[in-house]
Amino acid sequence: MTDVSIRVSVNGIARRATVPARLTLADFLRVNCGLTGTHLGCEHGVCGACTILVDGDAVRACLMFAVQADGAEVTTIEGIGEPDGTLSPVQAAFRDHHGLQCGFCTPGFVISATALLRENPSPSEHEIRDALSGNLCRCTGYQGILAAVRAAASES
Ligand code: FES
Ligand code: FES
Repeated sequence: MTDVSIRVSVNGIARRATVPARLTLADFLRVNCGLTGTHLGCEHGVCGACTILVDGDAVRACLMFAVQADGAEVTTIEGIGEPDGTLSPVQAAFRDHHGLQCGFCTPGFVISATALLRENPSPSEHEIRDALSGNLCRCTGYQGILAAVRAAASES
């Protein structure tokens, strides 16, 4: 299989790599970059656990090839908070409002909510539910997640 050279900014760090053309962006982040906060659940675009930001848009890393991110700015859950470890407002709201239990889905929800609030700082209940409709959680029953996003919105 053909290998391709790519240059990607990941959480503000410029990375160069030569990767197989069919390597997914999720595997590039997890294996090549060691950023295992991007979780893989379904690996076919259904669960949202692998959601990351590419040039500011929430995308599913399991549905993109790494070569498609050539030249892009990628943000994973590891890059959402401050460099000193301070949680982002969305992360803090998930902690404060019991928005997680096992945590498997959490990176994807946090990224989706972050993308929503950057685009729409005062979303309606319908807009919040719509923005999170592509993320699945098997633990929480969603109420804590919705409360967290409402709280983060009210603080933004
Ligand atoms: S692992 Fe990508 S959407 Fe489920
Ligand atoms: S907290 Fe366990 S899947 Fe959502």
